[in-house]
Amino acid sequence: MDPVAVDLAPLDGILARYPAEESSLIQVLQDVQRHYRYLPRPALERVAKALGVPLARVCSVATFYKAFSLVPPGEHVVHVCMGTACHIRGAPQVLDELWRRIAPDANGDTADRRFTIKAVNCVGACAAAPVVIVDGRYHGGVQATKVAKVVGLEEGGRAS
Ligand code: FES
Repeated sequence: MDPVAVDLAPLDGILARYPAEESSLIQVLQDVQRHYRYLPRPALERVAKALGVPLARVCSVATFYKAFSLVPPGEHVVHVCMGTACHIRGAPQVLDELWRRIAPDANGDTADRRFTIKAVNCVGACAAAPVVIVDGRYHGGVQATKVAKVVGLEEGGRAS
């Protein structure tokens, strides 16, 4: 159950873009996730009804794909690329340093909901490795010694 009420009105526009059938499910969920930044339970129920798909099927798809989240992300979402190029150039140390400084739970969320940290596969900017993405903004050449500033834990950083 969601702790806050979710405005479901935007779902009408999302659902109107696709045929009301099961084959639309992933695209609809992608749009829902993009809009809400996660998949609220009431939205999943509405999607299931609109597409004529059992709610259990919608939930299984929502939990199967790593790109989907059933909980709201933190205020700032930090993706650390762990692709090969980034890995070779220090991404594991960057992730370790972030984890040490922010101390999130096992899902990457901090208790104060300020940050969500995710390790991701190659984000297509290998020339700039190691890459950290903060709230959708790419930062290249991020070393462990600099990552606290990049995510806004130190003065002059991005997220605050
Ligand atoms: S491996 Fe990190 S951007 Fe490609």
